[in-house]
Amino acid sequence: MFILKLLVTGGAGYIGTHCIIELLNAGHDISVIDDLSNSHVAALHRVKQLTKRGLAFVQADLRDTAAVATELQRFQPHGVIHCAGLKAVGASVARPLDYYRQNIGGTLSLLAEMDRVGCHKIVFSSSATVYGLPKYLPYDEQHPTEPANPYGRSKLMIEHILRDWSVTHRDASALCLRYFNPAGAHPSGQIGENPKGVPDNLMPFLAQVAGGHRPALTVFGNDFETRDGTGERDYIHVGDLARAHLAAIEHARSNRGFQVFNIGTGRGVTVLELAAAFAEVSGRPIATTITTRRPGDLARFYADAQLAEKTFGWRAQQSIFDICADAWRWQVENPEGYSA
Ligand SMILES: NC(=O)c1ccc[n+]([C@@H]2O[C@H](COP(=O)([O-])OP(=O)(O)OC[C@H]3O[C@@H](n4cnc5c(N)ncnc54)[C@H](O)[C@@H]3O)[C@@H](O)[C@H]2O)c1
Repeated sequence: MFILKLLVTGGAGYIGTHCIIELLNAGHDISVIDDLSNSHVAALHRVKQLTKRGLAFVQADLRDTAAVATELQRFQPHGVIHCAGLKAVGASVARPLDYYRQNIGGTLSLLAEMDRVGCHKIVFSSSATVYGLPKYLPYDEQHPTEPANPYGRSKLMIEHILRDWSVTHRDASALCLRYFNPAGAHPSGQIGENPKGVPDNLMPFLAQVAGGHRPALTVFGNDFETRDGTGERDYIHVGDLARAHLAAIEHARSNRGFQVFNIGTGRGVTVLELAAAFAEVSGRPIATTITTRRPGDLARFYADAQLAEKTFGWRAQQSIFDICADAWRWQVENPEGYSA
């Protein structure tokens, strides 16, 4: 087997930590650059304990070009998994310049320094938010891209940058993984999503309601055209997502070019179905409060993820019950997240 040296940006975050576990378990060597603006160094200690492997860590903002250059020159990676970035849709509407500055500025700094050390393989954390309103379902990679907020636009702009960059090097490979709705946690209960403040995503919100930290799940609208009137999304287990990164970077090693891939299950699950699954695995009732739709919320949003399977042999394996069981274990064992 070929052992890769891989730099993971944003590697202390929710998705980054799960990716690192997969990559370390596959035998690859890891260095992480993360400014810890939305994460805890304790997560990396737990990754080391779980995998019984070491890793390098540099606390730095990606826009600190000197820090990125120093680490890339030292580590000489074969490839980069680029997860670092700001990710809250609502905050991106309130603070668009921060989102463009961080997400795009960080990527430009990273690519310039990758060029300097001759590293031309990158897997990028993109998002299904690049699609915007559905022209048809399921979304495939040919679906038009019309993101409805600055966050989604920053992701699409980075995809354009990566496409342009990839044609400047004969050996370059830039794979953009458009995640649908990542959820769940590591089955050990040691690694999970640790949002600061009120959770932006449904799953940590559900876990906090089941754990008694919040009184009820707020459901935004029950009059959508779906099975039960609540919004339908494509929840993908974060462990499946991590395996997609492993498959993608190993594919990138021996291939070249720019490509985008949907990373989802191909199945939509409604808010109420997810709440029922969570109640079942946790044995706790989930109270719900129905309120009005949020502007821009879509009825149905799910992937056609066959291209990833055809290209690098990846498909989602875990069910909605696996997602809920792992999220619940993480919540029970870490009610205060990593801060405890
Ligand atoms: N979680 C989701 O629902 C979701 C969905 C689609 C796409 N994504 C994308 O996946 C990536 C990872 O998401 P996540 O859920 O793990 O988020 P996260 O906030 O847990 O992880 C992002 C990490 O990047 C770090 N970071 C942010 N800006 C940085 C910078 N300028 N320099 C260095 N480090 C920086 C943060 O400290 C954090 O550890 C993000 O790019 C996000 O946009 C996430």
